[in-house]
Amino acid sequence: MAGSILSNILIIGATGNIGKYITSAILSANPPVARQVSIFTSPGTASNPSKQELLSSWKSQGLTVIEGDLQNAEQVAKAYEGVDTVVSALGRDGLLEQIELLKLAEASESVQWFFPSEYGTDIEYDASSVNEKPHQNKLKVRRFVRENIKRVKCTYVVTGPYIDMFLRFVPGCEGAGGFDPASKKAAVLGSGNEKVGFTSMRDVGKFVVAALRHPETAKDKALKVQSFVVSPNAIVNEFEKQTGTPWTVDHTPIEKLNEWEREGWESGSPVATLFALRRIWAEGKTLYGKTDNESLRVQEEDLERLSTVVERAVKGEPY
Ligand SMILES: NC(=O)c1ccc[n+]([C@@H]2O[C@H](COP(=O)([O-])OP(=O)(O)OC[C@H]3O[C@@H](n4cnc5c(N)ncnc54)[C@H](OP(=O)(O)O)[C@@H]3O)[C@@H](O)[C@H]2O)c1
Repeated sequence: MAGSILSNILIIGATGNIGKYITSAILSANPPVARQVSIFTSPGTASNPSKQELLSSWKSQGLTVIEGDLQNAEQVAKAYEGVDTVVSALGRDGLLEQIELLKLAEASESVQWFFPSEYGTDIEYDASSVNEKPHQNKLKVRRFVRENIKRVKCTYVVTGPYIDMFLRFVPGCEGAGGFDPASKKAAVLGSGNEKVGFTSMRDVGKFVVAALRHPETAKDKALKVQSFVVSPNAIVNEFEKQTGTPWTVDHTPIEKLNEWEREGWESGSPVATLFALRRIWAEGKTLYGKTDNESLRVQEEDLERLSTVVERAVKGEPY
């Protein structure tokens, strides 16, 4: 989108955890950011009964659904025809598939802008980031872009952890942190005073729209954005305020988390990724002197507050 010219956007991974917020935000952007919005999705997702309500509501907002196989170059090239902007929200296991998608974008006649799937922890926060196992596939994608993608511009939207997910316990990993309004119990890492920069899932969608509105700021950048910065203890306080009663809080020593992480990597358990990310967040690696919120013209009042997200959790609303 060059300034006032509206985009033709193709979204990949649109119905996933974060893709659905990004797609909904793009479709309902006011003023609009796109003259046309399509999604490229697998036949399995397109026919999945649990996705029909969402797909129908998007179609009623003008969305086009293209069914196909991401690994079929011909189908992807066809889906790219006339598209100037590709937004990928592929899940972790599909991150490396983006290398072929980027090659096809570079070879296409129309694609000029590509958002690889990030929307999370800063994978180039400091010198230690390059060694973090959960970052490796995203790092490979960034390296591929630096070395091979010359014509198409890329934007990475770095949001830190989603507060909506952080508020929930992950079954089997309760010690890594979480909050349960039913039992009024919380688990926090260490003292619980270390602040973390969070983004709500709805705000991730807003930031992607803001990036689309400001190509001059967003192109060729890893944008660091967040809704707010808060400590786990402050989250407990907000839950206590909203539920009107004190909560029981367990503290997991960081050494214990490190041990679970080590065991997880050694046994090849997928929860190792969760433990590693929780450690990175507790180490303060979501904090910045200055974010890109302002350069994207996103103000504090445009964003969700902790109290709103806690209210949804207290009501038991799913994210
Ligand atoms: N900051 C955080 O707290 C946080 C939390 C979760 C995720 N994230 C990040 O957000 C991004 C998207 O993650 P997500 O959890 O939203 O994704 P997801 O729901 O697991 O998957 C999104 C979509 O990707 C498509 N896909 C195609 N091939 C795939 C493959 N081989 N493996 C997985 N998905 C495949 C599927 O859509 P189709 O069937 O339509 O092709 C799927 O619905 C990732 O970069 C992830 O690291 C961040």
